[in-house]
Amino acid sequence: MNTRIVSDPATGAAPGIEPAEFRDRRARLLASLTDNDVAIVSGASIRYRNRDTEYPFRQDSDFYYLTGFEEPDSVLVLAPGAEPGAAVLFCPERDPAREQWTGERLGPERAPQALGVDAAFAHSELDKILPRILDGRWCVHTVLGEYPKFDQRLIESASTARARGANVGGCEFRPLQRLLHEQRLFKSPAEQGLMAAAADITARAHIDAMRHCLPNLSETQLEAVLVHAFMQGGARAAAYPSIVAGGRNACVMHYVRNDSLLRDGDLVLIDAGCELQHYASDVTRTFPVNGVYTPRQRELYEVVLAGQAAALEAAVPGAHCTAPQDAADRVLTEGLIDLGLLAGGIDEALATGTYQRFTVHRCSHWLGIDVHDVGEYRRDGKWRALEPGMVLTIEPGLYIPDGPDFDDVDEAWRGMGIRIEDDVLIEESGNRVLTESVPKAVQDIEALMQGAHR
Ligand code: GLY
Ligand code: MN
Ligand code: MN
Repeated sequence: MNTRIVSDPATGAAPGIEPAEFRDRRARLLASLTDNDVAIVSGASIRYRNRDTEYPFRQDSDFYYLTGFEEPDSVLVLAPGAEPGAAVLFCPERDPAREQWTGERLGPERAPQALGVDAAFAHSELDKILPRILDGRWCVHTVLGEYPKFDQRLIESASTARARGANVGGCEFRPLQRLLHEQRLFKSPAEQGLMAAAADITARAHIDAMRHCLPNLSETQLEAVLVHAFMQGGARAAAYPSIVAGGRNACVMHYVRNDSLLRDGDLVLIDAGCELQHYASDVTRTFPVNGVYTPRQRELYEVVLAGQAAALEAAVPGAHCTAPQDAADRVLTEGLIDLGLLAGGIDEALATGTYQRFTVHRCSHWLGIDVHDVGEYRRDGKWRALEPGMVLTIEPGLYIPDGPDFDDVDEAWRGMGIRIEDDVLIEESGNRVLTESVPKAVQDIEALMQGAHR
């Protein structure tokens, strides 16, 4: 098979997850199943963008987490004590004629050795073999709803098993999320290394974008700087559609058109992160197109920056996962009152939520193989505590759109959107900001941009 380039050309480091770690992840999941259980995880299939042109293939996150295997149309079955073995993979068959078009396939013959699964079969055998594995299994743990056609095949396999007299009892379907996503929430040292590497590539991309930014450049051209840096760093793709939003476009939360001109005197908000070997980074910076904040932009920016600092300070082990949000809300609300954008006192504003028209979104989410990563925020009806190994974003923002709903706000503030977002690993001793190297203090951003080409 081809050797894939996964190293960071800048450092020579080649972070990655070893096959043994994928085996260990499966073993941990298997250990939480009884002999009457089976866990079934479908990989992703190719999707079409238009006619016969495919979207770039991205493996299903749960499937990738458990296998490290990137081929489409594959299925992992984990069944303690099953006849072919506890970890069984179904994957595409070798087919030289087809491989001339698609590239080399691993094939079921080589999968046990390459991936450490106990047995592997052609995907075309799934409907024959799965009913046999389901014999004697009362409970199927799976993620329903993601791939409806696959869900249907599972249900049919269960009813085939029953029709053959298999001892499946009521064959109950349960969400796999509870078991698997709790596991994914805690990042191993190798995952932490990979996420730090993704964060470094993304940090360089944001710094490059600040250096290249000039009035009358288009948002598309600034996005090209990000894409270039991601790929130069060894990442194949962005973890989510990059947001490059000049001026009032920053008030649209998921602005991805990125096709306007960047105007002298405006801010530009960039929310972009690369995906490195399936792990996401997610960073936002908001800076002046011409390299110098206006006094008003600076005033609002400093409020968001102070809110983010408070949230970062609150993101420590033992704190509720809402502690960063609460800390940011207080500081942002105080700032809004000080700037005359909110009436009343702080306690009243916090209690009634009047500040939320300016904050719009929550200030944090888990980060991992998915940008909005899996894992429960509440357990047994309570917000859970932050623990070492969790990775989350801290991303407060303030948005003052230029629309009719905001015509009570002084015009001078309208059309501004500011967000500052970093990726944070919770450690025993506090936290580590993985994306710290992207400047965010006003003077640091201005110095960087002015040093670049002005
Ligand atoms: N880029 C998506 C987010 O910040 O949540
Ligand atoms: Mn983001
Ligand atoms: Mn985010």
